[in-house]
Amino acid sequence: MLRIALSKGRIFQETLPLLAAADIFPQDDPDTSRKLILDTNHPDIQLVIIRATDVPTYVEQGAAHLGVAGKDVLMEHGGDGLYEPLDLRIARCRLMVAGKVGHEPPHRRLRIATKYVNSTQRFYADRAQQVEIIKLYGSMELAPLVGLADRIVDVVDTGNTLRANGLEPLETIADISSRLIVNKAAMKIKHQAIHRVITRMQAAIASQ
Ligand code: ATP
Ligand code: PRP
Ligand code: MG
Repeated sequence: MLRIALSKGRIFQETLPLLAAADIFPQDDPDTSRKLILDTNHPDIQLVIIRATDVPTYVEQGAAHLGVAGKDVLMEHGGDGLYEPLDLRIARCRLMVAGKVGHEPPHRRLRIATKYVNSTQRFYADRAQQVEIIKLYGSMELAPLVGLADRIVDVVDTGNTLRANGLEPLETIADISSRLIVNKAAMKIKHQAIHRVITRMQAAIASQ
């Protein structure tokens, strides 16, 4: 059995063509089905549908052998327990610091709202700046508007969400795309099956 962990929404949709290139076709659509385990055209390949931030945990623990996760999620989780053989070049965006348009930094520690606590900590520690981090689970863009924080750290693609909320991008922390990740033990034990998926996906990416 080969189990592949994906989150629904953009990662699932954008991974579909790469799975197809590897001759893997799910039998259900997670955006309409309530199933969490999707069968495929191969009796020995399943897709498991989980939250984006849980993908590294499933793969690291071996509950899934392969997975697709954003680099933002991998940076936050810590990538040491996983192999990351392939940049899939999908779900591309940037991890950025943003704030209210024209807002000057205060004369105290910056307060930064984010779900990326570890990446934010590391970014400011690298420049020896003391900041106060406020952990949120979503809708970070709201925090500066209601005085919860001076800045946010979140992913930005078109910038529409920032603009719609009177915010502006200030600094880029990292360029983000999604990566294929592989459980370390599975890479040895199921090498042939996993290698086949990697090479077929790689060929599909290279031909784009
Ligand atoms: P959840 O919905 O469970 O809270 P999430 O918001 O992180 O999780 P998605 O929005 O599907 O889930 O994001 C999955 C990945 O896609 C992110 O980790 C990031 O790498 C990338 N991503 C997020 N937002 C965008 C965007 N607007 N444009 C392009 N890529 C994005
Ligand atoms: C993501 C992210 C930003 C937005 C950025 O949200 O959290 O809010 O996209 O994209 P933009 O620069 O193109 O506006 P998403 O669409 O994933 O919604 P979510 O709140 O459900 O995560
Ligand atoms: Mg999202």
